[in-house]
Amino acid sequence: MLSQSAAWTALKSHADEMHAFNMREEFTRDPDRASRFREQACGISLDYSKNRISDTTLALLVDLATQAGVVDKRDAMFRGEKINLTEQRAVLHTALRSPDSSLVFDGENIMRSVHAVLKKIDKFVDSVHSGKHLGYTGKRIENVVNIGIGGSDLGPKMVVTALETGSPNNAPKVHFVSNIDNADFEKVAAQIDPETTLFVIASKTFTTQETMLNANTARDWFVAQTSSKGDVAKHFVAVSTALDKTRAFGIQDDNVFEFWDWVGGRYSLWSAIGLSIALGLGAKQFRDLLSGAHAMDNHFCEAPLERNMPVLMAMLGIWYNNFCDTRQYLVLPYCYSLSEFPSYVQQLDMESNGKSIDIDGNAVDYATGPAVWGGLGSNAQHAFYQLAHQGTQFIPADFIVARDTGNEFHHHPLVANFIAQTQALMRGKRVDEVSAESSLPAEDGLHSHRYFSGNRPTNAIVLESLDARTLGALIALYEHKVFVQGVVWRINSFDQWGVELGKQLAKALEPALAGETESTNLDASTQFLVDVLRA
Ligand code: F6P
Repeated sequence: MLSQSAAWTALKSHADEMHAFNMREEFTRDPDRASRFREQACGISLDYSKNRISDTTLALLVDLATQAGVVDKRDAMFRGEKINLTEQRAVLHTALRSPDSSLVFDGENIMRSVHAVLKKIDKFVDSVHSGKHLGYTGKRIENVVNIGIGGSDLGPKMVVTALETGSPNNAPKVHFVSNIDNADFEKVAAQIDPETTLFVIASKTFTTQETMLNANTARDWFVAQTSSKGDVAKHFVAVSTALDKTRAFGIQDDNVFEFWDWVGGRYSLWSAIGLSIALGLGAKQFRDLLSGAHAMDNHFCEAPLERNMPVLMAMLGIWYNNFCDTRQYLVLPYCYSLSEFPSYVQQLDMESNGKSIDIDGNAVDYATGPAVWGGLGSNAQHAFYQLAHQGTQFIPADFIVARDTGNEFHHHPLVANFIAQTQALMRGKRVDEVSAESSLPAEDGLHSHRYFSGNRPTNAIVLESLDARTLGALIALYEHKVFVQGVVWRINSFDQWGVELGKQLAKALEPALAGETESTNLDASTQFLVDVLRA
């Protein structure tokens, strides 16, 4: 049992000793603290000194990672072992960004297919950008609409939003449609012209309800405006593992960009799911993204655990989650173009580690994946930071900033806010400091409202520059962090059975809502909602 293991119980008793630990006092006592708790790799610096940890905490956390077999499990993943036990699948998204020419999986050298699809993407992107691939009236493609959801939307949308200021001039603008509410499609449809629009239907399974509804709506919209079904071929491409279904939808095999069942949805932006990224940002930026992620893969595989950035971030998360009773964390980018990053990390982390059954099929008796949320600094400072600074619970936070965003205006105030917030969360403000600066009478209790406990942990993540390579490394950093946590918690981070029940029940309710059948055997609340919402 993990919770009875030596490393776990050692951390439990250490947590008791750490109750009185105060970061602000530690910084005063130990001037070397910041230089010891710092790491750098792949254009990313991580300052993790503003955490409630001592050298002993770190050593014990590394012991736990070692005891959990992180190294062996990591190597098993990279080798292509079927570590996704419940689906009997390998987990090989790392192969998608590897330059290696050979990796044999199930008797096949998968690197040949990986590189062949990448070449196909390059060729297609070039034909769209150069104007070889034209719309049905001979006009250039100016808009791309990515229709997908979950991993087939969040990753590409986050990357395109982050890097689109560096798009080549001849690249189309990429829009994203994901929501089941038709308002999402309509909003994009109002901005595009069928003659100059390419639809990318992105779905691993090609069965996801939202995506198939939106894809059909897009095709109907297109055909209604062009009055020619034949032109669909020039304007619709698909990214999927399900060739039979893309064919049934009417997309020619040549226009299907393939990937494989060993790529999980939320790990798929490196695969052909990245087609919209390559179309919007250029094939070069897509390749740079892959190479940045590969550099982080190498760091993850080569650095000793105590110097390994994904391992350190994972174990800090475990420290708070399992030993300090705080089950949330914040993702706070101070880069406007990383606005989609918190949502992306939400799916990555919560769909991967939101599990309560371990790999042996037993219920866990410890906390697993935390609730992840966040938003853009500095906006979030004027919204939910109040709770982060003075709320009754402390929430560890990842602050992310870029040294070079390509935009010098407002850069100093932006960075000053980034630093100041981590400083404020760590230092707090003591009662004597409040009194010293306040003219209000202390005896009325008015000073206490201005007191900040401080001692609230943050990681400061500084990107050398916000470019494709560094972004690739940042994404891979979070992927591996989530992986390490899953290994320690002994859960399968690569399935998502928890999303299925709602899908099943929604399908069953549709006929009753459409008035085609009477619903039976519903609980009173569900029946009430069906009655109220029936068409
Ligand atoms: O329902 C959850 C999920 O399966 C995610 O894991 C996935 O990223 C998303 O739906 C989309 O799936 P697909 O690419 O098969 O449409």
